[in-house]
Amino acid sequence: ETNQKSKIKNPQSSINRVGIIGAGTMGSGIAQVAATAGCAVKLFDLNQEALENAKASLEKILARLIEKGRIDSEEKNRIQDNIQYVSTLKDLSDSDMTIEAIVENLEIKKKVFQELESYVSNECIIASNTSSLSIASIASSLKNPERCVGIHFFNPAPLMKLVEVIPAIQTSEEVLKISAETIRDWGKTVAIAKDTPGFIVNRVARPFYGEALRIYEEGIADFHTIDTAMKSKGGFRMGPFELMDFIGNDVNYTVTETVFEAFYYDPRYKPAFTQKRFAEAGYLGRKSGKGYYTYENGQKIDGH
Ligand code: NAI
Repeated sequence: ETNQKSKIKNPQSSINRVGIIGAGTMGSGIAQVAATAGCAVKLFDLNQEALENAKASLEKILARLIEKGRIDSEEKNRIQDNIQYVSTLKDLSDSDMTIEAIVENLEIKKKVFQELESYVSNECIIASNTSSLSIASIASSLKNPERCVGIHFFNPAPLMKLVEVIPAIQTSEEVLKISAETIRDWGKTVAIAKDTPGFIVNRVARPFYGEALRIYEEGIADFHTIDTAMKSKGGFRMGPFELMDFIGNDVNYTVTETVFEAFYYDPRYKPAFTQKRFAEAGYLGRKSGKGYYTYENGQKIDGH
């Protein structure tokens, strides 16, 4: 037990204490969202450095929000006070809900879920932020799989409005309802999707990238022409190649490959050699300075 206090904005919600597992890109963002909404958050990572980085990065993000006049220093303190950084899974034992955002590996996730279930109360909801694994298989590691649900945030979690909530075939109606309500209370838009590869967004997006890559490979148009066409006529904020460079060609390629395999090699999701070679060559996009375009300090410099 701790004496951690939080100012609950939404006293009706039954979810006040939230445990986050994994303090990387997603876990630290989700912690910020829950803490901003007034939950008492415990952020756990095995790696002490990840916890320190998460803390330092939140400090920077909140300082920037003050500069922009979006929050005041009292609000900054409130959000920071709502997060405790913990280094054992057992520290999450008093959680009403836990959200896991560790490495995308089924066996590791299952092990962590089993251990976690031995610490938390019977009522605690156990969620995963997985992008590509089946919630049914993760849930199967629990004695009480009805309490398991997918809660899939997008990166960066504090900025992206949409959250997909995914009931597994084992998930109870009650757990789905409370999970969706909680995410809405946190200011997000919920889309409930079935437990299938890529859920909604990562599946719909596959042909967007894939068809653009095929148009390029068939010599119909170059990257820049395709991007320009989609932005000026399609109304997209970024063209498919700009977006792949933004996400990272390694990450984006792997998601496509996973969805392709998971749909029993349905050719609609077939990955493209062009992107595979880009990933292999280290032409990852914005983060490596070169992808379909060239970047300096994260800015596109090749004139388009
Ligand atoms: P990340 O690599 O940034 O962070 C993962 C963290 O988990 C690391 O700090 C690591 O130390 C920690 N960790 C690993 N094993 C652990 C264990 N057994 N116990 C405790 N901590 C452990 O990863 P990222 O990008 O945040 O992804 C996390 C999850 O979220 C994955 O399942 C991923 O598929 C999913 N996801 C990722 C998105 C993205 O754009 N990066 C978007 C939506 C979902």
